[in-house]
Amino acid sequence: MVIFGAGGDLTKRLVVPALYNLSRTHALPDDFALIGVDLAAGTAETWQGHLHDMLQSFVGDPAAALHIDHIDDDAWQRLAAKMSYLQGDLTQPDLYERIGEALAPRANVIFYLAIADRFFGTVIDHLGGAKLTDQNEDDYGQHAFWRRVVVEKPFGHSLDSARELNARILRTLHEDQIFRIDHFLGKDTVQSIMSFRFANGLFEPIWNRDRIDHVQITVAETVGVERRGKFYEATGALRDMVPNHVFTLLSMVAMEPPAGFDAAAIRSKKAEVFAAMPTLTPAQAVRGQYAAGTVLGKPAVAYREEPDVAGGSNTETYVALRLEIDNWRWAGVPFFIRTGKHMSRRTTEIAIRFKQAPNRAFEDTPVHTLPPNWLVLSIAPDEGISLQFEVKRPGPVVDLAAVKMEFRYADWFPKEPNVGYETLIHDIMIGDQTLFMRADMIEQGWRVVQPVLDAWAAETADFPNYDAGSDGPKEADALIAAEGNRTWRPVDPPPAAKP
Ligand SMILES: NC(=O)c1ccc[n+]([C@@H]2O[C@H](COP(=O)([O-])OP(=O)(O)OC[C@H]3O[C@@H](n4cnc5c(N)ncnc54)[C@H](OP(=O)(O)O)[C@@H]3O)[C@@H](O)[C@H]2O)c1
Repeated sequence: MVIFGAGGDLTKRLVVPALYNLSRTHALPDDFALIGVDLAAGTAETWQGHLHDMLQSFVGDPAAALHIDHIDDDAWQRLAAKMSYLQGDLTQPDLYERIGEALAPRANVIFYLAIADRFFGTVIDHLGGAKLTDQNEDDYGQHAFWRRVVVEKPFGHSLDSARELNARILRTLHEDQIFRIDHFLGKDTVQSIMSFRFANGLFEPIWNRDRIDHVQITVAETVGVERRGKFYEATGALRDMVPNHVFTLLSMVAMEPPAGFDAAAIRSKKAEVFAAMPTLTPAQAVRGQYAAGTVLGKPAVAYREEPDVAGGSNTETYVALRLEIDNWRWAGVPFFIRTGKHMSRRTTEIAIRFKQAPNRAFEDTPVHTLPPNWLVLSIAPDEGISLQFEVKRPGPVVDLAAVKMEFRYADWFPKEPNVGYETLIHDIMIGDQTLFMRADMIEQGWRVVQPVLDAWAAETADFPNYDAGSDGPKEADALIAAEGNRTWRPVDPPPAAKP
């Protein structure tokens, strides 16, 4: 594996810790080698030392992504022994000659672009120019060895830029060599959505417009922009989260059953969901930006007061959308999605609300209205599945109480230290593209949101419009309540009390 951006944040926080975890579980091939490439002067020893310190800094920190009590020295040494470092400027052709010399002939190589997105096209052009992405075929048309490229997010900033980047990199690479990575998909609970749906006969027959009223997808963060103001000012919540993370969750909930669990079958079914999503109109979108407030008991400054953020910034830190999927399964079922920073609780969940049961039988009882059934797939931080339904309260009067059946992964399966990239890197090594976005999926995602991006860029927003630590702006409540008596689920529900 060749990592461009070896001295960067992503490499030290996620890619190398994931490689360490793969080393720990003996999941790296014996002849694995890691070449770090970066602008800064360095040697294999200084690079290893820096990365080892970084691993160390996770030790004993339960809030960190890497839950380990100590570093397994053998595992680290197995990895460190295979690490080398090349200093060079990735815009200069000589670097690629040196990389070519450092690679074993006919080696299988992953080129990992852990660099700013403006360099993605440049590096791939140079790799192609130096013939480093060529995969020679043997007499039977099989690749004698493979060359794969991992492209980090963001993949484009708009429909046009995503199309341009796809066209540019597809001049050098074949689609099956490109791994557009999204760390969100490395999470087991995201992957388990498909197993839950297609391995259980119970839910699939009711997974459609006949039984489902609407779907809510929430990706709420408690963090603000922290020190990433410059990046965030140019990006905003919609670009940062929706066409990639949120649409991927949505496609897993909405896809048709694939013919098999291979990448081609699954990606085709997901792509059909993207293709069936009508392009949004600005009226189907609400944007928000946080004012000062209190998050998890601590004071938080307004977005416009954050470092590197303009005093009158028009950048959204929250977005809510009403989406549709215009096909036989989903026509008429709205998908409401929302994502924001500095919200009341960190949570990622997919909540499916079933249609109301007819009320007639309960009309003359204290029940009055029947609460709906909810099925909630919790992705983070509590991974699990819960089903809410009504039961009769014991006693002489007909009255109901909402109760929950709950499954928590942590209660059933031991948690392995995992930063989320392990599965993805392993999949790249074995050439499994199931969890990676195909060119058309990326472009469809941008197509859906582009009119909203354009409208927002053209108009000044009335910001700020929600308090840090709240559930978002009130305009989002109006968006979901516009038809039917729908409301958002609380981001931070009160602790479950026995009814
Ligand atoms: N960090 C994360 O948590 C995260 C999460 C998801 C996705 N990503 C994506 O991952 C990519 C990398 O992000 P990052 O946060 O790791 O960025 P970063 O910390 O800026 O790392 C990029 C590295 O590339 C080096 N570099 C810059 N120009 C170069 C050149 N001409 N030749 C050789 N090396 C050069 C930088 O060196 P200098 O420091 O000297 O400029 C730096 O060490 C981005 O596409 C980002 O969007 C990051």
